[in-house]
Amino acid sequence: MRSAILGVGSYLPQRVLTNDELARRVDTSNDWIVERTGIRERHIAADDERTSDLACRAAVAALKAAGREAKDVDLIILATTTPDLTFPATAARVQAELGVIQGAAFDLQAVCSGFVFALATADNFLIRGQAKTALVIGAETFSRIMDWEDRGTCVLFGDGAGAVVLEAGAGERGVISTFLRTDGRMHDLLYVDGGVSATGTIGKVRMVGNAVFRQAVEHISGAMLEACARAGVAIDEVDWFVPHQANQRILDGVARRLNIDAGKVVSTVALHGNTSAASVPLALDVAVRDGRIKPGDLVLMEALGGGLTWGAALVRM
Ligand code: UT7
Repeated sequence: MRSAILGVGSYLPQRVLTNDELARRVDTSNDWIVERTGIRERHIAADDERTSDLACRAAVAALKAAGREAKDVDLIILATTTPDLTFPATAARVQAELGVIQGAAFDLQAVCSGFVFALATADNFLIRGQAKTALVIGAETFSRIMDWEDRGTCVLFGDGAGAVVLEAGAGERGVISTFLRTDGRMHDLLYVDGGVSATGTIGKVRMVGNAVFRQAVEHISGAMLEACARAGVAIDEVDWFVPHQANQRILDGVARRLNIDAGKVVSTVALHGNTSAASVPLALDVAVRDGRIKPGDLVLMEALGGGLTWGAALVRM
């Protein structure tokens, strides 16, 4: 029994914010952003667009790609750090909007690692027979928690959503292994300085960028090796690497460290920026739609985010 990815979908808000526009707001330049991060532009949600709206658009596309309908879905896990409201879960609104009237729907919060954590969680539900067809979504409106005067963070993030339909079945396709890890001792490296219980405010993203960078290269590499080891697969047997898109230099650093051919690494960071929990399914959707990732390919997804959290998932498409 495995949980197979039957379909992938994504959604990006219409508005594109370029590096040059940001350079008019804060002391930065297109050259600095491109050289240090690889990011050229990012999408920003409209004022009336909520995380649930982005999530629904991605979910509808994933259902269509999977040949499934709302009535088939009996589990929704939405990875987000930027929910519509403090409660109820944004997943509940998504469930209602999609017309799903059975099963459970809940949010999962592991920041940029959220999609990998949600995929592993849904896999466990499906493998145990507690659900049959899951929507696993990563959706974020990080623009709402940006400090637009902090050049160290505001140039990095963007909004978007990606989703997969995961269904339990027999066969080779599906999630083969996952590895999840949290080390809360590093929670001060990347956090939001507001929240319901601590301050009663929403807060803004704060990050010690270079420290997170060092942790990212080390722990992402470790997670990838661990997910492969759990499956008895060598890293060079993997067809495609779909990383969390935080910084092109992190993608390159990990590829160098693990001796991975850079041509096998899907990169969308230039056009999406860091969309937190949405970045992995967004990149997956791009590579499935442009024909790089094909049925039967072995795909390794990975991420690291606030917490710190990190993880990897090995999937036969
Ligand atoms: O998705 C969750 C995980 N997040 C990440 O993985 C992000 C990890 N970190 C990074 O991607 C990088 O650390 C950054 C892109 C955030 C920063 O790049 P860096 O090469 O690590 O730069 P730095 O933080 O060491 O700063 C170097 C200099 C500093 O100036 P001084 O102190 O040397 O004068 C910064 O103030 O670069 C300056 N700087 C900027 N300059 C122009 C920081 N941001 C900017 C900017 N434009 N936007």
